[in-house]
Order: sequence, then structure tokens, then C-alpha cells
Amino acid sequence: MKQDFRLIVIGSGISGLFVALEAQKLGPVLVLTKGSIEDCNTRWAQGGIAAAVGPLDSPEQHLADTIAAGAGLVDAEAARILCSEAPARIRDLVDYGVAFDSLGGEVALGREAAHSRARVLHAGGDRTGAAIETTLASAASGPGITILDHTIATRLLGERGAVTGVEAIDLASGTSISFEAPAVVIATGGAGRLYSHTTNPDVATGDGIALAFDAGAEVADLEFYQFHPTAYRSNSAPPFLISEAVRGEGAVLRNAAGEAFMGRYHELGDLAPRDVVARAIVAEMKATASENVFLDCTVIRGVDLAARFPAIFAFCRGQGIDIGREPIPVAPAAHYLMGGVRTDTFGRTTVPGLFAVGEAACTGVHGANRLASNSLMETVVFGKRMVECLNEAPRGAEPDPGAIECDDAGGASPGHWALQTLMWDCAGIERSGEGIERALAAANGWAHSPAEPTREWHERREMARLARLMLQAALRRTESRGAHYRSDFPERDDERWLRKQVFRRGH
Ligand code: SIN
Repeated sequence: MKQDFRLIVIGSGISGLFVALEAQKLGPVLVLTKGSIEDCNTRWAQGGIAAAVGPLDSPEQHLADTIAAGAGLVDAEAARILCSEAPARIRDLVDYGVAFDSLGGEVALGREAAHSRARVLHAGGDRTGAAIETTLASAASGPGITILDHTIATRLLGERGAVTGVEAIDLASGTSISFEAPAVVIATGGAGRLYSHTTNPDVATGDGIALAFDAGAEVADLEFYQFHPTAYRSNSAPPFLISEAVRGEGAVLRNAAGEAFMGRYHELGDLAPRDVVARAIVAEMKATASENVFLDCTVIRGVDLAARFPAIFAFCRGQGIDIGREPIPVAPAAHYLMGGVRTDTFGRTTVPGLFAVGEAACTGVHGANRLASNSLMETVVFGKRMVECLNEAPRGAEPDPGAIECDDAGGASPGHWALQTLMWDCAGIERSGEGIERALAAANGWAHSPAEPTREWHERREMARLARLMLQAALRRTESRGAHYRSDFPERDDERWLRKQVFRRGH
């Protein structure tokens, strides 16, 4: 398309739309999205967005909690920026029209695991993501932003080591098109669809991370994948997120025998860090030979469940469960990738002209285990900073001197399900060297197949690329830390592993 764009954004979740809205003052912005504008992960976020705005809270306390959750690998400077700039970004979202819930005239603050204070703002109860996405999409409908939906980015174009455009396929016609701009942002979100059980929608296939790696950008922390402890589990419906905020209001996890078990695993009980809760649930499922545990909301007092959690209440009712009277069957499901395209604190990747924001990026704020509801905030804090540096001379982030060069010679996965079950079985909540090696051998053996102008083919290629990188990262890290649990190396090993793993493509 021969139009002069100031910026191309790939992805239309909160990261993509927020960046587009902030950048339109600099010139025309193009947003490419492979589905429709509302097909994004943001829409499904329930708990909310974390910011130290309460009278008993402070950015320092938020920072301390973020660092503690991250199991030794949080980038302290990036996390300091996240926590100190968060309150101002809440004001930006309010200016765009997001109506956060209030209680008694004050902003309502929820509690989630490993937060020492109630600091999670929400909108529409547990429909926070949908409320933000709808508001930003409506704000982005003006003339400064062109949104092309059903258009999948297939390659980043470059000149002299910098990214200068995007090659894409118009999925309606199957034709290839290319776009040019001095800056391109990867805002494609996460990769939950690499796993057979996930809280993420179909679009979350990690494409942008694989495209950036292919274009020479460094990627980091790919062994750290977060499994949400409580997704609805039954044979009759796909997993559905049951927000941690439900436990924040007092719900209790029980095993198949009805025992409230979390006290046996962690002093914070049901509000222990996510990785601890997910593994505890798996242990209880094994011990009781069941497919799930139960989340008991009947013990919650003084909360109107239908008003506070309208999405969860309606979903469970649709499954024949009245959550005020009956427990919800739950089990862990793939939820959030802590790693991604490595960026500095202005969203710059190591390739000039290429930026990354949100779940597709790795700013380092999550370390080995993300603190709940820091993800939506990360997108707006670093999205804002990214746009602020767009007018500077283009340059990349400093390369990591310890980056490991790796080649990816494998082909596309034979199908989504084959890859998803392989990743769930071999790179899930508990992994072992033997299982990861088996998965890598299978993934390396996938044959190259001729390119097809379809979303399915391109997703299979990018999912396979990302899976191979995640498996390599998981194999190399011979310890357990945060969300990465190796049954053959169950201890944390600070002497050898208090460091990130950064990968870049070999030449
Ligand atoms: C939740 O509501 O439990 C999910 C929030 C998050 O992943 O940050």
C-alpha cells in the first residue's frame, strides 16, 4: 500500500490500540490484525490492572511485590518504571474513557495473589479487559488510524539492518501486500495457543515473537510460561478463566475430598504466588486421581457474586453451576508468557526501527513469574514510553553480550493440536529434560511444506518456531525457578542460574 505511515502496529489488543492512539499525533498509523479488531487476548482479562493508587499503598510496595514474585530475575529498573508510572497511566486510560469500578465514591481495588495490598483496578466487574478494549477501539476509530483486519503479518522487511516495513497477506483475497514505515511495533500478545489447555483465545499463537526473532531481534525468558491455577475444567467446555480475584474475595480451593489444601503448601494459602498454587493443584489432582480440584465460592461473605463477577457468574450458570451454592471444577491452564522480544525500557528491540510492547515483549518486569494484573499495566507504561522516543534518531536496544545464537531449521507443525499436546505434555507445569528433548526431536523433525496464503499455515510456521525456542530455553535451564519447574532439577540454583537466557538467530 503506497501510503506514508509513521508507524505500523501489528496487533489490536490493548498494547496495539494504546500505542496507535498515542502515536497518531506524530502521523498516520496503520494497525494490522489477523482477526477482527475484537479478537484479542485483552478482551478476556478479568482481574484487572495493577497500580498503587490506594491510600495505604505506594509504588515502592508495588515494586517490592513485583520483585518478590519474579523469583530473582526481575529487571529492577524496568519494574521501578512500571510501578512508579502506573498511576499516571491509569489517568490516561480514564481520559480515553475507561470507567473503572468504584465503591463508596472511591476507586474499587481488588486483591490478587502475592499482592500485599488491594491494588487491582477493575471495570465492569470481571469484564475489565473487554471494557478497556471496547473503549480504546472506539477511540481508535478516527481518521489518524487505519485498521486493516483479517490481514496477517508474514515477514518484517528491512534495509541495512533496520526494520522498515511489513509483508502481509490479505486473508479475504489471499493476496500478498507490503507496507512501509520508519517504525514497526510488535503488539501481537501471547502464545497460550501453543498449549492444549489455555485461557487464551485462538489468536494467541505468538506470531509476532517468531517474526521478530526471524528479523534478527533478541528474545529472552522463553522458558518462563505462566499457568493460571484456576481455569474451568470439564469435558463439555473449553477452559474458561476463573479470576484470581475470586480468591482475593475469599474463595477457597478444595481437593476432591473437600479439603482446603493450600495451607499445606504456602503460608499465604490460597493467595500464594501463581506458580506455587498451580503446582499444588497438580499435586492434589495426582494424589486424588482426579481431573480437577474445586474452587469454593460459597464461603465468600458480603459480596454480590453476580455483580462483582458477572462474566464468571454467567459462564458457570451456562454450565449449570450456581457459584453461590456449588463449587467450580478448576485446573491450571496456560495463561501468560513472561518472555518475548527483548526490549529496553522504551520498547526498542535490538533491531533499529522494530519495537515490541505488551505480552509479546520482554521488558524484564515479570522475571520468572508475573505478579497478577501487572500485564495490562506493562502494556500502557511501556507503550507510552515507546511513543515518546519515536521522534528520536532510530536506534536499537543494546545487544546482550551473553546472547546465544541459535538456528531454526525445522518446518511448520503438522497441525495446531499436534503442537499443543506436545507442549502441554513436555513443556507444561512440570517439565523434565527427557520430555523436553523428546518434544524438541519431534519439533525439529517437522517437515517444510510449501507456503500457503492462509492464516492457518502461517500460524503453524510461527507456532513451531516459537515452540522450538521455548523448548531450547527450557532444556538449557537446569534448575527450577518461578514458573519453570524441572522435575529432574527441582531446586533453584542461584549460583549458576541467576541470569536470563537471551537468544538471537545465527547467521
Ligand atoms: C486473573 O484475573 O486471575 C488474571 C489476571 C492476570 O492474569 O493478571
